[in-house]
Amino acid sequence: MNGPLLKVENLTKHYPLGAGIFKKSIPVIRAVEDVSFSVEAGEMLCIVGESGCGKSTVARLLMRLVEPTAGRVLIDGTDIAGLKKDALHAWRRRMQMVFQDPYSSLNPRLTAGQIITEPVENFERLSRKQRQALAADLLRKVGMSPEMMHRLPSELSGGQRQRLGIARALSLNPSLIIADEAVSALDVSVQAQILNLLLDLQQQMGIAFVFISHDLGVVEHIAHRVAVMYLGRIVELAPSEALFAKPVHPYTEALIAAAPVPDPTRVRLEAPVDGEVPSPINPPSGCAFHPRCPLAVDRCRIDVPPLVPMSDGRVVACHVRAPATSISAGECLGHDSFGGLGKQSTY
Ligand SMILES: Nc1ncnc2c1ncn2[C@@H]1O[C@H](COP(=O)(O)OP(=O)(O)O)[C@@H](O)[C@H]1O
Ligand code: SF4
Ligand SMILES: [Mg+2]
Repeated sequence: MNGPLLKVENLTKHYPLGAGIFKKSIPVIRAVEDVSFSVEAGEMLCIVGESGCGKSTVARLLMRLVEPTAGRVLIDGTDIAGLKKDALHAWRRRMQMVFQDPYSSLNPRLTAGQIITEPVENFERLSRKQRQALAADLLRKVGMSPEMMHRLPSELSGGQRQRLGIARALSLNPSLIIADEAVSALDVSVQAQILNLLLDLQQQMGIAFVFISHDLGVVEHIAHRVAVMYLGRIVELAPSEALFAKPVHPYTEALIAAAPVPDPTRVRLEAPVDGEVPSPINPPSGCAFHPRCPLAVDRCRIDVPPLVPMSDGRVVACHVRAPATSISAGECLGHDSFGGLGKQSTY
């Protein structure tokens, strides 16, 4: 199959605020604005940004848990919005999600074995023997003993519960896992174990990941490419090494500069730059980062900067650091050749 596994085109999600009976136009929360990226088979794409910048909304849009206001999500070139029942079922097998809080996403009344074999049993009937063999296999894959299949979630540690959530996601042999803050609720040492498990799965089973985190240190540890979001938009998308060695967007630069050097795994992005994160209901004009940006010029208050491709395979939206030249962002968005791992990549 040529082309990326997942391709997201101009994805936008506005949540209406109230009914707006007396108003001509209903105010909206601009959760996601014109987001485009792709994910190659086996790739680890990380999405990073402060709380409220739209990361989870992107995840929900990818899983079709919410409908987009505009834009498309394509799997192997097929728009998921147009899928009918059978095709939708087949697609759901290929894309699975791992959540931040494994406890609330696991049924407390089911045993570990029942939880992880449930997705398969939604598709086919398993005998008791088959179910036990599958549960044992999945538990081994996530580094747990098969004996654990008889335990309830309440009898497991936080790390074990997250392993269970991953085992459940693996049960249908997905091509892509969306992990939304999947390690954020865990202690640092457990975080590292889960990250290593995800890396093993990506490397050994060739599973692609959209790994969402507000923690830059975590992202640096695992990403092939990183998309930095600010107020609903991607402001920089770059190969991980290039991004951390030389951030181009002033926001990315501020995030990385805020990283404590001795322990880069503990970077928190809650308030990495001066000033408040503006409201997504009434975002600043032009570049939404301009009220906080030390480099802002007049144009920044007027025009939204387009994502401009740079020579090293990254795209950046900044009038000052990445001025639009002969290659326009529009041309870039329409570009069909999405570079893969180690290749010259765009989105
Ligand atoms: N169901 C919803 N209804 C209204 N607003 C929402 C809804 N979900 C998210 N939002 C808003 O959209 C913005 C982005 O939220 P979210 O995607 O959860 O961000 P993140 O995951 O980066 O913290 C926030 O302002 C949030 O309040
Ligand atoms: S476009 Fe202007 S305000 Fe936005 S990041 Fe660049 S310099 Fe700063
Ligand atoms: Mg979130």
